[in-house]
Amino acid sequence: MQVAVFSAKPYDRQFLDAANAAAGGRHRLAYLEARLSPETAVLARGAGAVCAFVNDLADAASLEEFARAGVRLLALRSAGFNNVDLAAARRLGITVARVPAYSPEAVAEHTLAMILSLNRRIHRAYARVREGNFALDGLLGFDLKGRTVGVVGTGRIGAAVARIMVCLGCRVLAHDPRPDPALEALGVSYTTVSELLAAADIVTLHCPLTPQTRHLIDAGAVARMKRGVMLINTSRGAIVDTRAVIDGLKSGAIGLLGLDVYEEEGDLFFEDLSEQVIQDDVFARLLTFPNVLITAHQAFFTEEALTAIAETTIANITAFEETGRAVHEVSTEKLA
Ligand code: NAI
Repeated sequence: MQVAVFSAKPYDRQFLDAANAAAGGRHRLAYLEARLSPETAVLARGAGAVCAFVNDLADAASLEEFARAGVRLLALRSAGFNNVDLAAARRLGITVARVPAYSPEAVAEHTLAMILSLNRRIHRAYARVREGNFALDGLLGFDLKGRTVGVVGTGRIGAAVARIMVCLGCRVLAHDPRPDPALEALGVSYTTVSELLAAADIVTLHCPLTPQTRHLIDAGAVARMKRGVMLINTSRGAIVDTRAVIDGLKSGAIGLLGLDVYEEEGDLFFEDLSEQVIQDDVFARLLTFPNVLITAHQAFFTEEALTAIAETTIANITAFEETGRAVHEVSTEKLA
């Protein structure tokens, strides 16, 4: 099948080409550097399938362009699908497939890396020591053992985070509409969001972005959290109201913030903008805080995860070509 691969980076080519070769090289992958938008969707002309990533915008206008071009499958290289207008896809007869689980540990371990780095101020210590500053003032951390960690969303990634934090001797509180008995057996206690926010020393977000979770962490939530709380978001940027969080950092309500995702990351992340002036004032303000650590949506970025993403994506495309059904379709039944 001819596949138009949007937002293609060198690492996407490397892993997708390998997975395609392992499957007999049956698909013709056309790599496009462009991010998918209504303006660039036309580049899919001639392709039967489109392959897209997290900041590609598969809104109604993009999908209508695909339908005109004869695209029948949108194969996402991601678990999340909040960037796709599913109702429009259903209406236009475009199947949407995704990679539901590629390496929950990749994201969970990056979450742990952020927690440990922020707590022990590794990001500051690294810079200080290189400058010949060996003073410890300002680098005071706390023992994780015995602390309370609140995990919002205990699906694949949240469950992996909860297991890691249990191993570190933390008390783990969780909130999820579907509690996981296996986690409860490990001592994880499910509770309401309000109680979780009030009790946790560290709050880490692992729910998907939906209309219900958009700005879940708003000014009210910031006010309910323990003063000086550590907040980590490796899920989707818009789960956090960034302005409310900035106010929380300024007042001291939030003591430490780790972000791998950002509401408006589409204009920033995955690109080298080091020669440019950042136009996003909210993001620029975030960068000024010494107690904020930001990574550019790299939590998924491990060899294992990229291999699994590529293999599942190729399997989705192959199955769709052979049977008309992808292996991991995003259900649009509820939209009927
Ligand atoms: P999953 O579908 O296995 O788990 C999501 C969990 O959230 C489910 O248990 C669900 O019941 C729960 N949930 C739904 N609504 C909720 C609410 N209102 N409050 C609390 N929990 C709620 O998804 P998975 O694989 O664990 O991924 C979670 C999210 O992580 C994805 O939606 C994606 O946005 C993000 N992600 C980020 C990556 C990164 O590189 N930073 C990479 C992969 C995923």
